[in-house]
Amino acid sequence: MKRLDKLYLGTNTKMCKTRNDTVDYLKKLMALFSTLDQERLFPFVIPSFVSLEAAVSCAGKSGLKIGAQNMHWENSGQFTGEISPIMLRELGVEIAEIGHSERRHIMGETDEDEAKKVCAALSNDLTALLCIGETEDEKNCGIGKEILSIQLKKGLHHINEEQTVNLMVAYEPVWAIGVNGVPADGEYVDEMHGFVKSLLMELFPCNGADIPVLYGGSVNRENAPGLIARENVDGLFIGRSAWEAESFYRIACSVMPVFLKKRGFI
Ligand code: PGA
Repeated sequence: MKRLDKLYLGTNTKMCKTRNDTVDYLKKLMALFSTLDQERLFPFVIPSFVSLEAAVSCAGKSGLKIGAQNMHWENSGQFTGEISPIMLRELGVEIAEIGHSERRHIMGETDEDEAKKVCAALSNDLTALLCIGETEDEKNCGIGKEILSIQLKKGLHHINEEQTVNLMVAYEPVWAIGVNGVPADGEYVDEMHGFVKSLLMELFPCNGADIPVLYGGSVNRENAPGLIARENVDGLFIGRSAWEAESFYRIACSVMPVFLKKRGFI
């Protein structure tokens, strides 16, 4: 099956759920998601580091993938407070989220840091989910695409064509994320996704077109179907609206038929 024949739906629970909250959430979520078309769905949850072991054990063989919110690029060493790719692999984590807007803009991570992390994740058989997005200022100055281009070209600088089979990209405009975020308009999202896809094809002529590009930033029940209907949107990376299992499930139910229709499966 081609990578883009699946609908990518994931959430990052940020620093908002304890280990116990995560387990309760996952139990509910898995029961609900088991009713969905498993063949066409790539569901994932990215909880806090301290919840990872419990989350992996909870997810078991359900098909729900568990990811980490960040990762250091070295396998081991004198990096107090950091978590390495081999530590994540040992727990059974499958995805490493890299370069989320909060990592870049609150923790001060650079494109060079993200590039090393993407490379380390892929070299350790983790799926790398590279997050990119322009700030409001950058958008207003008309350099949104330039920023995406820099973040992608730098972020993917160390990887080769073959490694892209385990790469996913999330376009998350900084101004659209979180409680003060303004959801991006579908047309704008599609245009930016189209641009990201063209860059990925330029960087990786053989596999670039198969790399899933997800949208994130104030996705909710109302705007989700319209976003998935867009040609260049392969999935959704959701924050707040997915943190209640029921609410995530309702979004999944509303977008699945739209996705199946878009791809010509129904
Ligand atoms: P939000 O978060 O959906 O709550 O805006 C998105 C994200 O940070 O990935």
